[in-house]
Amino acid sequence: MVQLINAMTPLEEARAILGQHYDLKFTKAVQKVTQRIFDRVKDKIPEIEWAFYAPLIVQINRLKKEKDAVILAHNYQSPQIYHGVADIVGDSLQLAVEATKVKQQVIVQCGVHFMAETSKILNPDKTVLIPDSRAGCSLASSITAADVLAMRAQYPGVPVVTYVNTSAAVKALTDVCCTSSNAVDIVNAVDGDTVIMIPDQFLAQNTAKKTKKKIITWAGSCEVHETFTAEDISELRAAYPTAKIIAHPECPPEVIDVVDFAGSTAAMINYVKTEKPARVVMVTECSMSDNVASETTGVDFLRGCNICPHMKRINLENVLWSLHTGNEEIIVDPEIIEPARRAVQRMIDYSRKGD
Ligand code: 13P
Ligand code: SF4
Repeated sequence: MVQLINAMTPLEEARAILGQHYDLKFTKAVQKVTQRIFDRVKDKIPEIEWAFYAPLIVQINRLKKEKDAVILAHNYQSPQIYHGVADIVGDSLQLAVEATKVKQQVIVQCGVHFMAETSKILNPDKTVLIPDSRAGCSLASSITAADVLAMRAQYPGVPVVTYVNTSAAVKALTDVCCTSSNAVDIVNAVDGDTVIMIPDQFLAQNTAKKTKKKIITWAGSCEVHETFTAEDISELRAAYPTAKIIAHPECPPEVIDVVDFAGSTAAMINYVKTEKPARVVMVTECSMSDNVASETTGVDFLRGCNICPHMKRINLENVLWSLHTGNEEIIVDPEIIEPARRAVQRMIDYSRKGD
């Protein structure tokens, strides 16, 4: 059996295993080749930690070429992954679109399991790896294929719009997928005046405010965003009266109603880069503002965030091990891959029409 390095492996143990195969010393040469990356992240990563990350970054970037691999990383990944080893970064929609264009034979997904499954669905002939397959999502685990079938039986003929934060089996029973960046457009584009929108009750409620359609939803929620309250926003406003407060639409409507802007992770990044507010609070996962701060000048990023424990299961140690061993490979049942692909592809096609 192949030895596993994942987020549960003590770091010292993981490094000892990796050290049998790779030189992980922080030499002058390593320092030199990684200096440009360090300059970007030095406000977020202390020099003492960089000495551990830099050799891993060098080995990962070398191995990527050797194995014909590409790294897709979500905006919530840690700065050392986002800035150090990712080839493509983005929100769920951008990663899904980019996954259709990659030339490499191997995709390493630095994100959560449903994102890796989406890459596999769109690239059935490629090898898709996730460095720790237990990187789940509270939304994806809130609903099963049987639940979708029961909803379809309860509301016959009503189209099902499914957030990409779901398993391939759920996507396969779906008319069209959506992400937080295109939810309103997709709901408006499907036939009929009633839509089943699963599994995020808050994204559904926030979408319902922007469409004339009736939305039937599911009781799922994101464990990272559901905890934000309108009171938190009032406290942030009192503490930072001049700051713009922006949030992800997985937050409850009482939060979205009182923030200055709401949008997908990519839309939030775009807001910061184009509006250039002097001070901003990103009400979402904590690595987001760290990652954007490293590439944006003149904006003061204030804290008002939660950590996604699933996203944080991915680290440089298990990325290197994943490339080394080819584990853990995403396998999607051939019977569900095609219907799931159709639902994701429809979403991509709808989004392209709006370009
Ligand atoms: P985005 O599609 O906005 O990147 O969101 C994905 C996600 O998991 C947010 O919690
Ligand atoms: Fe899932 Fe929430 Fe984590 Fe996004 S932030 S991956 S929705 S648990």
